[in-house]
Amino acid sequence: MTARILDGAAVARTIREEVAARVSELAVRGIRPRLDVVLVGDDPASQVYVRSKARACERAGIASETHRLPAETSQAELEALIDRLDADPEVDGILVQLPLPPGLDTHRVLDRIDPEKDVDGFHPENVGLLVQGRPRFVPCTPAGIMELLDREGIAIEGRHAVVVGRSDIVGKPMALLLLHRHATVTVCHSRTADLAAVTRRADILVAAAGRLALVGPDHVKPGAVVVDVGIHRLTERQDVERLFPGDAARRARFEEKGSVLTGDVDFVRVAEVASAITPVPGGVGPLTIAMLLANTVASAERRKGGA
Ligand code: GUN
Repeated sequence: MTARILDGAAVARTIREEVAARVSELAVRGIRPRLDVVLVGDDPASQVYVRSKARACERAGIASETHRLPAETSQAELEALIDRLDADPEVDGILVQLPLPPGLDTHRVLDRIDPEKDVDGFHPENVGLLVQGRPRFVPCTPAGIMELLDREGIAIEGRHAVVVGRSDIVGKPMALLLLHRHATVTVCHSRTADLAAVTRRADILVAAAGRLALVGPDHVKPGAVVVDVGIHRLTERQDVERLFPGDAARRARFEEKGSVLTGDVDFVRVAEVASAITPVPGGVGPLTIAMLLANTVASAERRKGGA
């Protein structure tokens, strides 16, 4: 079997077009949604993510401001910025890029964001609403994965979904969203005994463990749908050759850029077993950004639009 590629980038484009149409409707009434992004420190991956978020806002007609703070920023200084954004009526969405540098208390920062502006869905009030099945803001990555499954016509109800990873950002909200759609859900993590035996039971397998090529063909039931949330940068030619044997295009990209991205799934070998699979890049990543735009516009509609 060779799996169908689930084109997250294409679905994300459609979602972004829908968002842009909603932005235009607001513009007619003189309303412009605005997202403020907070980046503390100089983590290179976070810098790339924050830049893509700002660019996506611009393209969708959403105002955005990025607040770059040095790694030495104190808890009090960071909280003072959050307070200012909470109080600013122009601001519809506040996103604090994670992880924060060591020494800063992430929970205390997230608790301080106005839950009505928490477009990441990480505030405990929004987490609670999601748990109860009456979500306000759903975390962007799992929300994007649900959009992908729905728009690609993948049935969820009654199927066994296995989520590998239990993070607050992806694993836990992903499990809840699948559960609310009547999947039977299993959550695995680094201490799960015989991971492959558990994941082989999945009709829908979501890999969000943050471990390079963790999910191989032995982890996947023939015909399963596999969603890869991982992002890893391969900087060694031998790793590219091992994971993508004979893939001339990827090899060429590596030679050009000095690195290529891949995920938690051994894509080439798993694609021989699965019925459908998301690629990295071009799978889940673009959906995450599209859902951030959607959450920001929903916030503006609620806050400024009387919706
Ligand atoms: N770091 C990795 N993913 C995310 C995300 O979805 N939101 C934020 N704020 N930080 C992240």
